[in-house]
Amino acid sequence: MKNEQLKFDFDPRFSEVPIHSVLKPNAYKGLAGFHKYWGKKPTECWNFLITQLTRENELVIDPFLGSGLITREAADLKRRFIGIDINPFSVELTKLFMELPQANEYKKALAALRDEVKHEIDACYMLSDGRIASHYLWEGDSLKLIWCKPCNGRKKEELPPSEFDVELFQKHSRYQPENMRALSFFDNSRINTSKNLTINDLFTGRALRNIDSILYSVKKHSDILLRRALSLTLTASLGQMSNMVFAVTHRGKTSGRNSGKTEVGSWVIGYWRPKLHFEINVWNCFENKAKKLIKAISELNGSTSVRYSENVSDVFNTDVKIALSEGDAKSVFAQLPDSCARLILTDPPHGDRIPYLELSEMWNSVLGKPVDFEQEIVISNAKERGKTTENYNESISEFLVECGRVMTNDGCLAIIFNAKKKDHWNSLESIEKITPGLRYAGCFPMNYSAGSVVQDNRKGGLKQDYILLFCKTDSEKKISEIRRKFSSLPNWKDGSSLQ
Ligand SMILES: C[S@@+](CC[C@H](N)C(=O)[O-])C[C@H]1O[C@@H](n2cnc3c(N)ncnc32)[C@H](O)[C@@H]1O
Repeated sequence: MKNEQLKFDFDPRFSEVPIHSVLKPNAYKGLAGFHKYWGKKPTECWNFLITQLTRENELVIDPFLGSGLITREAADLKRRFIGIDINPFSVELTKLFMELPQANEYKKALAALRDEVKHEIDACYMLSDGRIASHYLWEGDSLKLIWCKPCNGRKKEELPPSEFDVELFQKHSRYQPENMRALSFFDNSRINTSKNLTINDLFTGRALRNIDSILYSVKKHSDILLRRALSLTLTASLGQMSNMVFAVTHRGKTSGRNSGKTEVGSWVIGYWRPKLHFEINVWNCFENKAKKLIKAISELNGSTSVRYSENVSDVFNTDVKIALSEGDAKSVFAQLPDSCARLILTDPPHGDRIPYLELSEMWNSVLGKPVDFEQEIVISNAKERGKTTENYNESISEFLVECGRVMTNDGCLAIIFNAKKKDHWNSLESIEKITPGLRYAGCFPMNYSAGSVVQDNRKGGLKQDYILLFCKTDSEKKISEIRRKFSSLPNWKDGSSLQ
């Protein structure tokens, strides 16, 4: 279908988000690409649904915030907004998006940090000739190769390790970090964790020493915005600093054009420690991420600072338009009045696809944040957590009832969802029974952003989500209006019930 055939009559701002980019979004760029988050949804989709289903100043709620990208869209579109997530990391990242430091202030802070720690960090990666190593290739416990970045007119070099290099590595091998809180893992083979897994399994002692030294200096920063931005720069680069960066040796093998070169891969979902892996210079990882953030802030269209509160009632009682709350969605909803939200637009945990808190443990440890595993809505392979399908469906159902209560009449609930197993859909399928007044309007499929991290990397994992639309109304006219509006979307499916 041609783009010009797709006509929506609701809000003139819609023209700014072409329909093809809603259905097949662009890759994450700028701020959206700064930090990894599993199941991050494209900003085009947030913008489209908010403009279609609400007007300025109306209240939008996302109870499962994740990466928090929706918050900037809501703020830019001048909607009131409440964002909630149980993951302290998510709320911290969203706060960064709301109140970014000025690019030049962040640059200055980075330069000061460099002056304070770079010299010591360099000493940990120094070769016998005084050059600084950028990468070490390990096969299990055996050091195979060292790379040096080009410098002083010399090209990038690959060197065999010497005794000097091995001794330097061993000097820090038992390092215990002082500035991160201890990690808490469960036996979960799906994400390669066990109760006994420690930080020293994930990083070399040398990497931990250097991460700790950056963290020590960052924590001393008196400016909260810079402290947050630098801490999140560290969490954003943590994966590449770990023992979880695989080495690519087979590129082009299937096409018969294998160059024989070893390339640097990236940290993937979970805590898999590949036998053949790279140890990368911690400062280089940090500085590369910092440069990305500087670029993103400098290129930003719109304000770097949006006022927000941590108290949801401020959205009703004061002129603050945005509230961000860390906690369990159902408990935070209990603080909200009836019939206040025009749109609940959300992407809840999809069955057993991603155990968010278990995966974010490394980041929350750097941020020094405690985590409430108990209240997470998820199905986890970690048996000890007791996060079963029944308990997941029960929590989602209770939550949906609360959604019905806080929605205005004629308000909408847009849920982004997909799950392979039928019983992970149970609570959504019975939504109309458990939530009086809520009616299913229809759904359409949405692809992930190009190049994004997939929700599910298991064999046969799903590569697409559905946007399911419900409306709180007893008017047939209202439901028909929504169906008419969305029916020009390719693959829109309306129906009288989700089943
Ligand atoms: C699918 S992700 C959201 C991804 C997000 N839409 C994005 O674009 O990045 C689901 C989120 O639900 C959060 N979550 C899980 N249980 C929760 C609970 N009880 N209350 C609030 N948030 C919860 C997880 O921490 C996770 O961030």
